[in-house]
This record gives sequence, C-alpha cells and structure tokens, in this order.
Amino acid sequence: MSAPAIRVSNLSFSWPKGDKVLKSCSLEVPKGEFWMLLGTNGSGKSTLLRVLAGLLHPQSGEREILKPVGFVFQNPDHQLVMPTVGADVAFGLVEEKLSTPQIRQRVEEALSAVNLLDLQRRPIYALSGGQKQRIAIAGAIARHCEVLLLDEPTALLDPDSQRELVSQVRRLVNSRGLTALWVTHRLDELDYCDGAFLLENGQVVDRGDREKMQRRMTETQLL
Ligand SMILES: Nc1ncnc2c1ncn2[C@@H]1O[C@H](COP(=O)(O)OP(=O)(O)O)[C@@H](O)[C@H]1O
Ligand SMILES: [Mg+2]
Repeated sequence: MSAPAIRVSNLSFSWPKGDKVLKSCSLEVPKGEFWMLLGTNGSGKSTLLRVLAGLLHPQSGEREILKPVGFVFQNPDHQLVMPTVGADVAFGLVEEKLSTPQIRQRVEEALSAVNLLDLQRRPIYALSGGQKQRIAIAGAIARHCEVLLLDEPTALLDPDSQRELVSQVRRLVNSRGLTALWVTHRLDELDYCDGAFLLENGQVVDRGDREKMQRRMTETQLL
C-alpha cells in the first residue's frame, strides 16, 4: 500500500484565548480516496481542515499532506475573487510563472474537468451556487492539486446541486487520482465516500467504511 495522502497524529490546537479545540487528533486518508469528516457543530472540523491546509499551526503533533493542497470553502463568495470564470481559475496560477499558452491550457483543462468549459467568459455573479463551487474546484485542479479539502461545500446549495457536486468530486477522485476530504452534515452524501471519520470534541472517535459509518450515524441520529 502506498503512503497516505493525509496523515496527522496527536494533533493539538488551541485558539489563543480558548479551550483546546483539537485534542490529540489522529487520522489517515489513503491516496486516491474520497473520505468524509462528520461531527456536530463546534466539534473542530473546520479547525482541523485549516490545520491540514497550513492556514493554522498546531501547538503539537505531526501533519503530513501531499502538495499542492486545494481548499473549497462553504461560501464560494469568500473564495472567488476575479470578475470572470476564466480569470478566477487563472488567478490561482500567478505564482507558477507559466507562459500565457500554458495558463490557457491549464484553465481549459480544469474547466473541462468540472464540465464548465463553456462558462469560461461568464461573470462570476451570473453563476449559481453549485457552479461557483465547481469553479473553486477547477481552481484547485488548474494548480494540479493532489489533495482537495472541502469544508461543507454543499451547505448553501439546493438538493440537486448538492448531489451534482458530491458526485462530481467522486468522479474527479476516480478519474484524476485526487484525494479528497469533505466535511458534511448530510447523511446522503456518505453514499459517495470511501470512508468517513467522526470527530467529537476535537478527537476522532470513530472511523470506517461507508456502510459502517452510515449505520452508526443513523443509529445515533447525530446527523
Ligand atoms: N477564530 C476563532 N477564534 C476562537 N475560537 C474559534 C474560532 N473559530 C472557531 N472557534 C471555536 O473552535 C471550536 C471548533 O470550531 P470549528 O472548528 O469551527 O467547528 P466545526 O467546524 O466542527 O463546527 C468551537 O468551539 C468554536 O467556537
Ligand atoms: Mg465548520
């Protein structure tokens, strides 16, 4: 078996004036798999994702993650910064010193991967919520991200767009060998994952394959 794409062990994190939010938290996500992170509000899911992305620094513990890492936020309006779709996806490439044809090729490849190539010139404001999330994912694909971290990306979507987004990420994981970690509250989204972790009070208290975790979440009615 190859090394995991994400590995954290005994991770602890506290906000400056607050309690410990992550307490000796450990998990591994195998490369090329789609895993989900479950847990009630305030259990530390967003904090853990931010630590994984390197946006927050833990006080102790270890973290290894394949790079580059892409992050998709709950609210795409906090993420998309340029006026048009094509410009936004290209914006993430500014640090890579690519030629103009290389940038064009990366943008087109990424938009094709999320089936939105025909929206390349569309203004961001004219997109639906689900389309915006797919543009955020295209940004990560354009950067050739190995790992996608998605923090409740469907929270603001209607049920159809929700299904479409989760099935799209499933397809991208299969077709491109990406590794994804997806935070959710929604039991039906578990249908698409390879496995899931349950976080409680900053600790991973259970993990398992789709069937096991669906059973557990239904029984305990945590979701
Ligand atoms: N910027 C912040 N400053 C201080 N405390 C925070 C901050 N963000 C979150 N917290 C606290 O950290 C805990 C975990 O929050 P969070 O990781 O957002 O949980 P979840 O995503 O599972 O709902 C909560 O008690 C929350 O109040
Ligand atoms: Mg959260």
